[in-house]
Amino acid sequence: MKKKVGIDDLAVYIPKLYLDAEELAKARGIDPGKITKGLGIEKMSIPDAHEDAATMAAMAALQLMKKNNLNPKDIDFIHVATETGPDAAKPISCYVQGMLEQVYGERCLDHIGAPETKFACVGATYALIDRLAYIASGWNKRKYAIVIATDIAKYDLYSSGESTQGAAAVALLLKENPRLLAYEPEFTGFGTVDDRDFYRPIERTTAVVDGQYSIGCYLRNMRIATDMYKNNLIKFNIIKSDQENLSDKLDLISFHSPFPKMVQYAFASFLIHDWRRFPRWDNILSKIGPEPPRKGLTNVEFYVSKDYKRFRSRFSKIEEFRDEYNAKVANSLIALKLIGNSYTASVWLCMASHFGNGRDNLDDKRLGVCSYGSGSSAIACSFIIQPEYKEVIKKIELMRNLSRRKRISMEVYEDLHEGRFKTDESVISPKKEFALDYIGKEDKNVGYRYYKYIE
Ligand code: HMG
Repeated sequence: MKKKVGIDDLAVYIPKLYLDAEELAKARGIDPGKITKGLGIEKMSIPDAHEDAATMAAMAALQLMKKNNLNPKDIDFIHVATETGPDAAKPISCYVQGMLEQVYGERCLDHIGAPETKFACVGATYALIDRLAYIASGWNKRKYAIVIATDIAKYDLYSSGESTQGAAAVALLLKENPRLLAYEPEFTGFGTVDDRDFYRPIERTTAVVDGQYSIGCYLRNMRIATDMYKNNLIKFNIIKSDQENLSDKLDLISFHSPFPKMVQYAFASFLIHDWRRFPRWDNILSKIGPEPPRKGLTNVEFYVSKDYKRFRSRFSKIEEFRDEYNAKVANSLIALKLIGNSYTASVWLCMASHFGNGRDNLDDKRLGVCSYGSGSSAIACSFIIQPEYKEVIKKIELMRNLSRRKRISMEVYEDLHEGRFKTDESVISPKKEFALDYIGKEDKNVGYRYYKYIE
């Protein structure tokens, strides 16, 4: 019999510092409305001097283990996904193992598998599918696997990407018969195109991005993946014919959110494509005018063309769109407005934000996950929310943690960004947390990172 596998619980780690978006805008001579309203970002989380993607991952894992009272011997895998790992050879997962053993006891996790997956912001979704397939196959020797998405989104100072930075880690607890979300593996759709919208050469700490082009790539790949997802629903008779809408089968959706407005672009593009078959589509066109013709443009060129953007913007203002957006997407962005981009972690933070801000009964609802990673690949998949979910989400505490952060000045932000603080010059001294202690300087350990749990 097919096993039910999925996400049993999750834990989120957000750095304790943030930069106010209006302050950044003023310092850069930009109208603040462009960042707060245009992109939808109010605050950006900024890692302190003792933090990196590895400490954030370990903090999320520790929180997950503590709140579920997990015994290390019940953990089969710690699988990390990141695109901002500090080492090109050693995976963060192994650093995380070492950090957790400082708390739970030496060698207590030496039995685990500990891979790292990289594919820009979609990496954790690939890692999750791998681990769930492994559990479903029955090859696992222990009950739990932990997948951690951890990233620091960082662009050059004064670049157009600067206002879409942020940082976070999310740890997902996976098992058979999960309490939170059961995965629907048969429907998953992929959309992959070898492209150069965003990348980070090994020698750089900041990403190189062609901003508008990257938006087009996101929309193109998402279309390929959601088309495949829909075809799979048709194959399994969930959608009865090509004429039925996909959106009607999804109760909530969590999109990758590099900035909240991007999710609005993505959801609008998704609905425009989905609703063309809608009996009332003609009525919608009568309000907003006809769709612009493609005129031989490639998909990316079309998605970033002025005509299409204007059409999508008009569509985004109509009641039919607003109702659907408010019901299925808006709650996922409440936390994201206060965090910024966090690459692999973002789509899972959106999911946590849905649970942290929704009031309806979500039992048995279908939650769609639309994950995108530059380079480029999109995954469209779904989960069914489980009856025990209410107990699980009580302890997610995302919004409370966001309200307890410290605002930093532009000067401190720039010093942290440029690595001018030593690891022991943190803005908030670490307490009950993992910290980067020092970086090796000798022949045999040059560049090696030493981490410590600070009581
Ligand atoms: P930009 O090109 O300077 O912004 O930077 P814009 O001109 O497109 O304006 C953005 C919005 O602000 C527009 O809204 C403007 O009208 C509005 P829209 O019309 O589209 O609804 N606006 C204003 N609103 C109010 N008051 C004002 C005002 N002025 C303008 N005064 C861009 C935006 C995203 C390109 C830039 O920030 C960037 O390069 N960011 C990094 C790249 C990125 O996030 N790409 C997203 C897709 S790729 C992706 O998601 C993958 C990624 O996460 C990486 C990975 O996979 O690892 C990035």
